[in-house]
Amino acid sequence: MKNLLTNFLLEHKDSDPVSFHMPGHKGGRIYRENGYGRFLDNIMDCDITEIPGADNLFQAEGPLLDVMNRYKALYETHESYLLVNGSSGGLIAAILTAVPKGGKLIMARNCHKSIFNALSLGSITPVYAYPEIIEEYGILGAVSVEEIVKCLDANPDAEAVLLPSPNYYGICSDVKSIAEEVHKRGKVLIIDQAHGAHLKFFEKHGIQGFPESAETSGADMVINSTHKTLASFTQTAVINLCSDRVDRYDLEDRLQAIESSSPSYIMMSSLEINADILETCGSKLMQAWTENLSWFYEAAAKEVPGLRIMRHKMLDATKLNLDMSAYGFNGNQLEDYLMEKGIFVELVTGNIVMCMTGIGNKRCDFERLLDALKSIAQERRLAEVQPVQPVAVTRSLRMTEVPLRKERILLEEAEGSVCASSVIPYPPGIPIVCPGEVFDEEVIEYIKQRRAAQEKVIGLDELGRVVVGRKG
Ligand SMILES: Cc1ncc(COP(=O)(O)O)c(C=O)c1O
Repeated sequence: MKNLLTNFLLEHKDSDPVSFHMPGHKGGRIYRENGYGRFLDNIMDCDITEIPGADNLFQAEGPLLDVMNRYKALYETHESYLLVNGSSGGLIAAILTAVPKGGKLIMARNCHKSIFNALSLGSITPVYAYPEIIEEYGILGAVSVEEIVKCLDANPDAEAVLLPSPNYYGICSDVKSIAEEVHKRGKVLIIDQAHGAHLKFFEKHGIQGFPESAETSGADMVINSTHKTLASFTQTAVINLCSDRVDRYDLEDRLQAIESSSPSYIMMSSLEINADILETCGSKLMQAWTENLSWFYEAAAKEVPGLRIMRHKMLDATKLNLDMSAYGFNGNQLEDYLMEKGIFVELVTGNIVMCMTGIGNKRCDFERLLDALKSIAQERRLAEVQPVQPVAVTRSLRMTEVPLRKERILLEEAEGSVCASSVIPYPPGIPIVCPGEVFDEEVIEYIKQRRAAQEKVIGLDELGRVVVGRKG
């Protein structure tokens, strides 16, 4: 059969799936229902290049500058820049702007792989801040203010601090207090808000009960994947410059160095449409989204006994972290079950299935999810099966120098060897072993389990080998 990928996409679409994964638009209906159907109908013809009148992303003076100014107003920033290589590109540019070559960066150990890539591009030394562990669910939580202060005090020569907030599961850190500590010491705070591009708009429309956005909390640079939870196309994002602690021209220079020189006009136009949606019907859509969430949390608690849904004081509740282990399902089994019902989720960790909701989800999506969970409760009885245990998560590994001479060896034989190329379960895309860390028995076992569960692990080749420092 030819055109495997295209056929897969079309067949998937025809199967009437429910998306609780990226992107946040959840398909064409949000554009069609809000007056942007003409753009979708003409998408191929809108795929152009920098002809006169179309402006230039890296020297914006016309329509692209207008889009950036709209984001500047929406997020209330000093400057906002459109990104076409996702938050990944924005994060790399932000780090290379804030930290000179060979400098030091204090960063959460559970950062996304793009940040580790920036380290090697800029020969930057990381100082890891370790997030809290939420034992009950076996996942990583916030990075505490105390942990950041400890790292700052021990590393006065660090240039900047970077952490994800929200993290993949929606847990936010206390960015406001962290910003105060970072600024007291004259450093720059970068927040990876890839998963929280929407938070500012809950605030703007007076919706309570969500963590404050990093823009409002005092971060200097904030990187938002508008594609993950809002309505722009996959790979689009926005980087917000929120203070004058960073030179905007330096940042602009890094952005043009990192990003494609042929940015897609379709993607950039989707960023404009996303801004337009936020301006014209943001209030209605944000209200509907949060009402649907409240409805779901309440109905699920009432109608699915035994279901655990994660609650946390710093949780961005747009991420539904579901645990049906009381029915004997671990996360992978629950994902399979939901898939049989046409429901596709974002992430599985241990017993947790994370459903990523977005601006484009409608009440009918939440109803289908609830119905699927209810049918599990009807088909299988509570307490018939032993609940499965949460899986272990990242902890600190012994660190040493990043090796220069490398070789590939079997994972099984890697105990005691120094990692030379990150090993990254995907999703969530957080390296489990980073360059310079030493493989130990427990981490090797953890990676073997991920592979046995058919999860993707970047950094392991087809023979099951990892890249380590060459001995001798
Ligand atoms: C925490 C975090 N930061 C950054 C990124 C990169 O975002 P993007 O996919 O927009 O490049 C991801 C991707 O999933 C992520 O999970």
